[in-house]
Amino acid sequence: MANFTVNRVESPPIEGQKPGTSGLRKKVKVFTQPHYLHNFVQATFNALSLEKVKGSTLVVSGDGRYYSKDAIQIIIKMSAANGVRRVWVGQNGLLSTPAVSAVVRERVGADGSKANGAFILTASHNPGGPNEDFGIKYNMGNGGPAPEGITDKIFENTKTIKEYFIAEGLPDVDISAIGVSNFSGPDGQFDVDVFDSASDYVKLLKSIFDFQSIKKLITSPQFSFCYDALHGVAGAYAKRIFVEELGASESSLLNCVPKEDFGGGHPDPNLTYAKELVARMGLGNNPDSNPPEFGAAADGDADRNMILGKRFFVTPSDSVAIIAANAVQAIPYFSSGLKGVARSMPTSAALDVVAKSLNLKLFEVPTGWKFFGNLMDAGLCSICGEESFGTGSDHIREKDGIWAVLAWLSIIAHKNKDNLNGGNLVTVEDIVKQHWATFGRHYYTRYDYENVDARAAKDVMDHLIDMQSSIMDINTTIKGMRSGMVDVVDVVGADEFEYKDPVDGSISKNQGIRYLFEDGSRLVFRLSGTGSEGATIRLYIEQYEKDSSKTGRDSQEALAPLVDVALKLSKMLEFTGRSAPTVIT
Ligand code: G6P
Ligand code: ZN
Repeated sequence: MANFTVNRVESPPIEGQKPGTSGLRKKVKVFTQPHYLHNFVQATFNALSLEKVKGSTLVVSGDGRYYSKDAIQIIIKMSAANGVRRVWVGQNGLLSTPAVSAVVRERVGADGSKANGAFILTASHNPGGPNEDFGIKYNMGNGGPAPEGITDKIFENTKTIKEYFIAEGLPDVDISAIGVSNFSGPDGQFDVDVFDSASDYVKLLKSIFDFQSIKKLITSPQFSFCYDALHGVAGAYAKRIFVEELGASESSLLNCVPKEDFGGGHPDPNLTYAKELVARMGLGNNPDSNPPEFGAAADGDADRNMILGKRFFVTPSDSVAIIAANAVQAIPYFSSGLKGVARSMPTSAALDVVAKSLNLKLFEVPTGWKFFGNLMDAGLCSICGEESFGTGSDHIREKDGIWAVLAWLSIIAHKNKDNLNGGNLVTVEDIVKQHWATFGRHYYTRYDYENVDARAAKDVMDHLIDMQSSIMDINTTIKGMRSGMVDVVDVVGADEFEYKDPVDGSISKNQGIRYLFEDGSRLVFRLSGTGSEGATIRLYIEQYEKDSSKTGRDSQEALAPLVDVALKLSKMLEFTGRSAPTVIT
């Protein structure tokens, strides 16, 4: 057993360590500055209070992006020095964000220990590599992201920090080999437990879904399947789940080897960045001529998902609505009913229509998964989702990319349960169109303007807020802009979204600028909370169509008049110099 001592290192505050929606995300070059990561980790320990840190069990792992391995060794040494009793590390430092949440909630160590919290090392869907992004966030004992009270405290601590503690004489731990290493320090024994990244998570998923019926679907000749991990950490689970458990062929896995730089790509599962999958599914440029029936992709840390059918894209807002509408019948975990459902404010109201028809409570929360966690801890919500390709349930406290894929496979299996012996497959497209016929369709699109000058972005937002003082003037302006063009209906409300948490009563202000139209259409503008450089403006455009004879239009075409209004009203080009968005989803 190696002995270590504790080294106290003097370290003044470093500017700019304010955690965003999902932790601290910066360029690797920023993170590798002397003491940068150390200060943030110590500020976190201090925010949790040192008594709670002493004797605790911490999970430390992430999506495997560049700098993760070094960061894990630093955090292990700082944990040891701060009196943590054990650190749990997924093999090779890999754990998807949902798997971390599952491990915190479910894993029991050989000595009966349970985790108290986790450092997740990821910048989610941002690119990785020496010139790209790294990130770190802290999750609590419920498996969910630290609440604002804690992240605010962490930030305050980073501004006043004077010192951090790090173990001296503790060797680097081999995180490629499963097993427990014991060390001894001033506070007694310290263990590092390297464990299989998949088993706890897979066990949880098997308790939720009927793997047999999914396997029957996947192995039936009528069905074909494709999964793209975009070289993120989902690759560490894909083979185990889709191939070994569910019988998919290995050739159905794309980019499923986790890489430190995600193969140079942008690990964000949308129509722009998941190009290879999109083509394989018969969409985009150079589409395959014989696409599979079902395709899905994940982001770097595997909490996001994109669902595709053959030549067909399912919007995330529709996806969560369809999962909610079918969950009780198709997914054993929900067979006794749903407690309630929730969506983020910019997500379309497709879920609201389902909630109404099933007589379920519907919560509209600000962007950020932590708001769902509160509802789930209070037993108010079973299924939730966001337009930003996040879907999940109360099985954990993070969104869950592979869960969403299994939910869809369960629904397809359910709809085809009497059909897999040669009948016509009920496809993804059929399921979505049936849903629209029943509930109406929310045409939806999002325009992203990435890396906009921060000042210009603020000007756009200020202008949009200024205009909200007179609805009459807004309508006059819109009429003026659209003379000679197709009319859009009147704006009947305009505000900034504010949320009062029904569980703890906390109030979150300024959560997005809304323009609400007479027919339920909406324009929403907000600044991204997850970028690492400059500002990203997001514009969300939504229009509800109840008439089932009109639900089959191309969404960009259906939304064109509203898009035009949004761009002119916001003076996007004037303020930002951008004549087109960076990404359209
Ligand atoms: C992360 C959070 C999500 C959130 C998304 C929004 O992925 O986990 O809950 O929806 O960020 O990001 P944005 O860039 O729009 O703030
Ligand atoms: Zn993510």
